Amino acid sequence: MTKGLKHCVIIGDPVEHSLSPIIHNAGYIALGISDKYQFTALRVSPKEIKNFIAELRTSDIVGVSCTVPHKELVLPYLDEIDEVATEIGAINSIVNDNGHLKGFNTDWVGAVEPLIKLVDLKNKNVAVLGAGGAARAFVYGLKKSGANVTILNRTLEKAKSLAIQFASEFLPLSDQAKIAQADIICNTTSVGLNDPLSSPIGPNILNSSQIVFDAVYSPQKTKLLKDAESAGSKIIYGSEMLLFQAYEQFKLFTGLEAPEKAMRQAMEENLHE
Ligand code: ATR
Repeated sequence: MTKGLKHCVIIGDPVEHSLSPIIHNAGYIALGISDKYQFTALRVSPKEIKNFIAELRTSDIVGVSCTVPHKELVLPYLDEIDEVATEIGAINSIVNDNGHLKGFNTDWVGAVEPLIKLVDLKNKNVAVLGAGGAARAFVYGLKKSGANVTILNRTLEKAKSLAIQFASEFLPLSDQAKIAQADIICNTTSVGLNDPLSSPIGPNILNSSQIVFDAVYSPQKTKLLKDAESAGSKIIYGSEMLLFQAYEQFKLFTGLEAPEKAMRQAMEENLHE
């Protein structure tokens, strides 16, 4: 790490393929602050997380982006957790203010902003597929925006506990009839990740009045999104979530508005089909 710079890092395990350094560094260049800020990826295993956090306090790292598996693991080591992140139960950003570590969650912004650009979420029926960490951010954001949410998950118990926390409905993922009736379908399961032939739902339940948002962004056009496109649905790529949460995170780490166009361009140039 270069001395005298303010460093930001993304930690994860694995983390090598993260697009976050490319997106944030493009933002620094666009604002002319790349001589002050630098964003890098750092592989930190769950075993190393406690030490990493201890060393973070006296380091010149001002911002930490957390990805799998750290979003919940780091919570006990922080000094403060913002109210929204507490409600979601996970963080994806840590701000280091001279040794005081505060956790935030910007994933929910990434979940909701791409949808709000297309539709007013109030009273819309939304099917959220999955009940893991990503689902928590989606459900929080959707409920806050006034949507009616049904959580559908392979393991029904997990859907139930999330549904109770966020006053939503829950069903097994196999309940395709409910998904067919939804105005919006958000996939937060890992089905389709690095697997262009798998989708969490069958193609026949999709229709042209629906919006389908897949949080999976590798590949960019998942089987679910291909099926949705064939059915005439509007589609939202997972990379939109990545980008909108990054805009919010950029603001947290630098105190500056994110240069959205430059950050989007950098991401699009580096996305894989
Ligand atoms: P993340 O933090 O990315 O949300 P996670 O917390 O591990 O990851 O959650 C993964 C989600 O994908 C879960 O909802 C999981 O369903 P279960 O709760 O039943 O495990 C879902 N998932 C993973 N593989 C799946 C599969 N083959 N079919 C259906 N759902 C699957």
